Amino acid sequence: MDASVRSFSLALLFAVAAVHYAQAQGRVICYYSSWAVYRPTDGRFTISDIDPFLCNHLIYAFIGLQPDGQIRIMDQYNDIDLGGYTNFNALRQVNPELKTLVAIGGWYEESKNFSIVCRDPALRATFVNNLFGFVQQWGFSGADIDWEYPTDRGGAPEDKENFSLLIEELKALFAPAGLLLGAAVSANVHNAPNYYDIPRIAASLDFINLMTYDYHGPWDPVTGFNAPLYAGPADPDPTFNVDASVQMWLSYGIDRSNLVMGTATYGRTFTLADPGNTGVGAPAVGAGVGGPWTNEPGSFSYMEVCTRQLWEGGWGLEWYDPAKSAYTFKGDQWIGYDYIPAIQEKGRYARNQGLGGVLVYAIDFDDFRGFCNEGVNPIITNLKNAFFNG
Ligand SMILES: *[C@@H]1O[C@H](CO)[C@@H](O)[C@H](O)[C@H]1NC(C)=O
Ligand SMILES: *[C@@H]1O[C@H](CO)[C@@H](O)[C@H](O)[C@H]1NC(C)=O
Repeated sequence: MDASVRSFSLALLFAVAAVHYAQAQGRVICYYSSWAVYRPTDGRFTISDIDPFLCNHLIYAFIGLQPDGQIRIMDQYNDIDLGGYTNFNALRQVNPELKTLVAIGGWYEESKNFSIVCRDPALRATFVNNLFGFVQQWGFSGADIDWEYPTDRGGAPEDKENFSLLIEELKALFAPAGLLLGAAVSANVHNAPNYYDIPRIAASLDFINLMTYDYHGPWDPVTGFNAPLYAGPADPDPTFNVDASVQMWLSYGIDRSNLVMGTATYGRTFTLADPGNTGVGAPAVGAGVGGPWTNEPGSFSYMEVCTRQLWEGGWGLEWYDPAKSAYTFKGDQWIGYDYIPAIQEKGRYARNQGLGGVLVYAIDFDDFRGFCNEGVNPIITNLKNAFFNG
């Protein structure tokens, strides 16, 4: 072997070893919607429905915050009286490798309280201490900051800088205590660079949960996919897809192994303007009717989609290759979603890109009862297999 071949082989060996190392460390991060306990009949999902070996990180959604820097408990009855936090963290006794985090914020928390707290050094310090205390009190392994979004939705221009300060101050307290710090961030390539100082927050976060879903939904005038992997030929904005978001975040030079790609175990639903026009980009007049268990117009859990197809008849399955996503329709109802082959594409994508993991929103939307003859939790299981094994 001459020297160049030898050094090439060595480089290849290191590259292969690096990929294996990253994958061995790969994160499968699943959000748990704590309010899923209120869903009716078979849709009810409690902490005892969580398989503690399915995901290696679980995130309890959500807690909130007050303008005085105190933590806001969202549902005293469920979170505390019924043992929500305690039972969630007790899952680590069954699987000691499991990490459990608490998410603070979320879509409905908006920005105002975060913005008020973070622009004042004393309030910010109070909040940082309170969150640290909360995580320790209930025995979480860390926290996930879901401010949606700095500078937007009730925020102020200085949020961008003050969000970095928040993350750095949390890190300074969490890291020495062995606690994890993550953040759920916007996947919008136009907005994210305005919301965040990307390299700066990346330097202090253990992982970045990229919310690569909700690209299209019933707020749009035409049908489209919740989480297309790539752009379709007729997309009005070619950046509204997982690949464009991932590449934009990576373009800031952040460590790939800390970037976690989001996936959704729910689809987005539409009511068609014309039941005869059923394609991708067909005119829609608003949200589709809510599902039997999640009862939210405009969205359908995977378990709702697959059972409807299996039990009701008349719901077909259409694969849309440009987006690597699927849709189904009947009458004037249209659902764009990821079924098994779509989620496998995404798992392989995250693997091939050398990303630090995959996240799932949410564990309680998969077919956790195994109703559809694809096994229990087929979406998360197939995502995991594709990410770890290709
Ligand atoms: C902000 O804090 C106040 C006071 O605790 C609370 O009522 C409110 O729901 C919080 N969130 C938002 C979005 O205003
Ligand atoms: C918040 O950010 C602004 C810059 O955008 C900065 O001037 C200010 O000092 C920050 N506030 C605090 C409390 O650090």
